[in-house]
Amino acid sequence: MPIYLDHAATTPLRREALEAMLPYLTEHFGNPSSPHGFGRRARAGLDEAHERVASAIGARPREIVFTSGGSESNNLAVKGAAWAGKTRGHRIVTTAVEHHSVGYSLRYLEKFGFEIVEVPVDRYGCVDPDELDAAISSRTILVSVMLANNEVGTVQPMAEVAARVRRHKGVLLHTDAVQGAAHLDIDVAALDVDMLSLAAHKFGGPKGVGAMYVRHGTNMLAQQQGGAQERYRRAGTEDVAGAIGMAAALGLAVAERPAVQARLRTLREGLARRLRAIEGLQETGHPVERLANSLSVVVRGLDGASLVMALDLAGLACSTGSACDSGSTEVSHVLRAMGYPDEEAKGALRLSLGRETTAEEVEEAGRLVERAIATQREAAASVAATGGAALAAHEGARAASEAKAG
Ligand SMILES: Cc1ncc(COP(=O)(O)O)c(C=O)c1O
Repeated sequence: MPIYLDHAATTPLRREALEAMLPYLTEHFGNPSSPHGFGRRARAGLDEAHERVASAIGARPREIVFTSGGSESNNLAVKGAAWAGKTRGHRIVTTAVEHHSVGYSLRYLEKFGFEIVEVPVDRYGCVDPDELDAAISSRTILVSVMLANNEVGTVQPMAEVAARVRRHKGVLLHTDAVQGAAHLDIDVAALDVDMLSLAAHKFGGPKGVGAMYVRHGTNMLAQQQGGAQERYRRAGTEDVAGAIGMAAALGLAVAERPAVQARLRTLREGLARRLRAIEGLQETGHPVERLANSLSVVVRGLDGASLVMALDLAGLACSTGSACDSGSTEVSHVLRAMGYPDEEAKGALRLSLGRETTAEEVEEAGRLVERAIATQREAAASVAATGGAALAAHEGARAASEAKAG
């Protein structure tokens, strides 16, 4: 059985979530907007899902909008806030390390006259709240800063970020908590955010389901028109089973979080210690302010994508960084923003643990990574040596023929 250390990409669906969903995929199949009994049953399930997701993050049920996942939540948050705020201003402040569902949404908005200011991050991927503060002008309507980074696991100083944003009246604060939700305490009041994005598949829920917290009274324009679903904030018949699966998985993740996090932190630290001994390997992301489950590194002189392929063949599933970007030859915008030259960023590898990861799997993963790096280095050295020898032979032959001609 291959080892799965790519929980930042997605997590397996929890049995409890599946069991909670099944009745709503079978007998309770009604449309929650229908007034009859079938509809009312589905509505009751959906209402309960709102309540449970809300209670897991300290929100009110009416403040939860179910969506199709993290990307939609992020699109809805930034575009919805931008269009709603356009009469007051056109400036949006963000960081250079956001997920593309935020970053590309903002680039799209730029085409319509919004001004996007990307605040840089330090070597660890952290934004400086004072720099962010300085970027906010009287024309700013929105600030979007992710809670935790999906590639390097750095957790942003959200309390300080929120405190700075609150100095500016009328500026909305959004956070992408898609990676953070499984691993960090999420309390929307403590975080003091107006909008927060979640995706069910990052914490044992189904794929294609997400939620967005929208603080009551927040001015946000729906980005999808049609029916009155989700209090007019997201038209379309809701994925009732999905919402119920998400609520079940989130409730469990919150209840188990302290114990799971403590265990994962220890496992991750053991793996990090082992990999640190590899020559030319460097950990990326913040050493302390970070997700407990994810370990990201750059390996000097190697290509992360080739390493991932070799590890897959050896029985270890991991990634170079963002799953959405795998297959693209682009160097990570996150590592670039953190100051890594492209040559170093190319060697990125991310191992992300999950609640079902065992100590034996981590031990074996460490061995596989060591071996894959050693094998790839040997291969690279032998190519260089053969290439060098061939070049020397070629040069020698040329010199000899030139001497003869001369
Ligand atoms: C930080 C972050 N935001 C947003 C997303 C997008 O979520 P989804 O895949 O549910 O659209 C991801 C997914 O990897 C993510 O890591």
